[in-house]
Amino acid sequence: MEKLLIKGGKSLKGTIMCAGAKNAALPMIAATILSSESVVLKNLPYLQDITTMFELLGSMGAEIILNENMDFNISSNSLSDTEARYELVKTMRASILVLGPLVAKYGKARIALPGGCAIGSRPVNFHLDALEQLGAKIVLRNGYIEATADRLIGTKIRFDGVTVTGTENIMMAASLAEGTTHLTNVAKEPEIEDLANLLNAMGANIQGAGTEEIIISGVKELNGTSFSIPADRIEAGTYLVAAAVTNGSVLVNGINPQRLTKVIQKLEESGATISTTKDSISLSMENKKLKPVDITTAPFPEFPTDMQAQFSVMNAIASGTSNIYETVFENRFMHIQELNRMGCDIEINGNQAIIKGVDSLYGAEVMATDLRASASLILAGLCASGQTTVSRIYHIDRGYERIEEKLNYLGAEILRLPS
Ligand code: UD1
Repeated sequence: MEKLLIKGGKSLKGTIMCAGAKNAALPMIAATILSSESVVLKNLPYLQDITTMFELLGSMGAEIILNENMDFNISSNSLSDTEARYELVKTMRASILVLGPLVAKYGKARIALPGGCAIGSRPVNFHLDALEQLGAKIVLRNGYIEATADRLIGTKIRFDGVTVTGTENIMMAASLAEGTTHLTNVAKEPEIEDLANLLNAMGANIQGAGTEEIIISGVKELNGTSFSIPADRIEAGTYLVAAAVTNGSVLVNGINPQRLTKVIQKLEESGATISTTKDSISLSMENKKLKPVDITTAPFPEFPTDMQAQFSVMNAIASGTSNIYETVFENRFMHIQELNRMGCDIEINGNQAIIKGVDSLYGAEVMATDLRASASLILAGLCASGQTTVSRIYHIDRGYERIEEKLNYLGAEILRLPS
């Protein structure tokens, strides 16, 4: 297994371009199943999760062609199979995103149950309840979800809890349902709006994505289109934190700051100087000392759980004590133990992390446990003295495009070591 070797203590400076958003791209690839024609997706990030989604569609008979502009032409319009096997689903929970489109288009789907994962139990009951309300019959058998339906029928659905991929799954399914579907208690993440924009470009009729209520008037068929994936707000946020923890100064291009309002607010509270344009964010922390910031993660527009681990590192070297409350996922503090091995002083109390800022961190051998946890270990390595080795970095390759190349471009010193 590959490792990253980080020589800490370098201040990051420079400009980088944000990649396309993984969490926007995954549902969009699944959405191609709904189309009767091929769909072109541009600006897809080069990530393991995207490869896994393509493998999944490919295993069902989709044809995926990379053209000379590095755009993907995806033809999922005549699938020969509607099963998502366990080997693929177990490596990526977002595989559940094919459930709604398959049932809506082909009237059946057999999807392996995702099962447990490093950041909590992450069930899919909200997805299944909502799909049943659209008229699907669902049976759980031998570790698989077996769903069947004639044409789905639009209805009023209030989700029992706010779920991002659940909202996306049902929005996709309802696009081909008969009649109108009203969804409430929905997720309002920017990626929900991005998916609605793609579906509408394919001929769907969706209003209200990104607000409290989404109204979908079902259509009989969806067509092809060409669509560019917007920038990854979590990648952007991670590079801004990298600048902050190294007392650096970085400009991230391609990102709409409105997607990171809460993160920017917290970065400013921590003492960083931020300036924005409509598609860029710059941060400077040169010659300043980080101040501690209290954080409570919650669904958008609140502070994203996917930035929690990165802010743990910022707070760990700030001058004072802070509290982080994780309210979205249980068990999302796996990185804390590893950070403490690098000299952090963090105590966990249920869903609260109490962080006492220390003057400096030191390098150590640490192990990544999930995607954002691995990002936090790299950030800690960047500001620690000496060398840090991060193992199990396949987690980071799932969600960050060429992370060591991008950080090295900003002045970091990171080597990818072969297994
Ligand atoms: C998505 C993101 C992930 C992000 C998360 C929260 C993608 C591909 N992934 O994950 O990066 O961290 O949103 O912003 O977009 N829940 C249930 N039952 C369900 C569904 C969810 O109890 O049927 C719970 C989960 O266990 C969790 C909470 O609801 O505690 C939110 O999960 P959810 O929004 O569904 O996360 P994902 O969509 O899996």
